[in-house]
Amino acid sequence: MPDARPVILDTDPGIDDAMAILFALADPEVELLALTTIFGNVPVGKATRNALQLVEMAGAETPVAQGAAAPLQREPAPHPDFVHGPEGFGDAQPPAPSRKPDTRDAAQLMIDMTAARPGEITIAAVGPLTNLALALDRDPAIAKNAGRVIVMGGAVRQRGNVTPHAEANIWQDPHAAARVFAADWPVALVGLDVTERVRCSREDLVPMAEASPSCGGFLAEAAEFYFSFHQRSQGFDGCFLHDPAALVAAVDMDGFQTIPAPLSVALEGEEIGRTRMAPEGDGPAVDICLAVDPDAVRQRWLAPLWSGRLP
Ligand code: BDR
Ligand code: CA
Repeated sequence: MPDARPVILDTDPGIDDAMAILFALADPEVELLALTTIFGNVPVGKATRNALQLVEMAGAETPVAQGAAAPLQREPAPHPDFVHGPEGFGDAQPPAPSRKPDTRDAAQLMIDMTAARPGEITIAAVGPLTNLALALDRDPAIAKNAGRVIVMGGAVRQRGNVTPHAEANIWQDPHAAARVFAADWPVALVGLDVTERVRCSREDLVPMAEASPSCGGFLAEAAEFYFSFHQRSQGFDGCFLHDPAALVAAVDMDGFQTIPAPLSVALEGEEIGRTRMAPEGDGPAVDICLAVDPDAVRQRWLAPLWSGRLP
């Protein structure tokens, strides 16, 4: 088996965030170094509480550092409680966490951890990119210290999901996203072009709940709310695996096809938050995922969650 990949997961949990976090905690090929939290699906205080709850549910000691409460420049958007529920996990309510967050903020934790292991750590960001932009501003050396950045966000050839033009994570802080795509570090974009191809069904969660009654049972309960949202908005029974697909990409890009190109972000107007491939642009190339093997990615996500490795 390859060495486990050290990952910092920046997240706004969130039901599909929880699916990604529990995958990262269960998978032997991931060394989950920390969770850092960001506003998005819920306010950042709830995101931090939710992250701590998941770590405790899994019986892990992973540090959790709280990040930004609002975007860099634009007015904060309302939190999408119709997608993830007012507390972030649909109708599932895990017990209050007993541990406290790290004393550092998210940006500082990313700076410190990547500086201690230069070139080794993957930052997987599955919420708005504000923490990454703040870290770049506070210590530009993070661009060379981070081994790789995986971003769940954007829609290049695909229609947006929060407006016809924009995907939610990028739309919520487009200025931060533009900063992250303009920095000189290796970024891969796992956007709606691929994540809307990777779906999970209710049946996928049954073996998870049997193998891991606490964590799998929790995901099966939380997912019901997300399934209802997808039934209403997309007309299918199940859900997209946005954040889990990004975590699978963080471990193994085999199921994804990418095109390297600079990426621009619309910063104003009707198309605010739109991501565009800009082959003639002068920014650094981002590895943009445009095709995926949906079943391989879904299976790769399911395997550790069906293994019974989590309680
Ligand atoms: C992204 O937005 C959030 O609702 C999900 O957690 C995911 O990160 C999908 O557009
Ligand atoms: Ca998310």
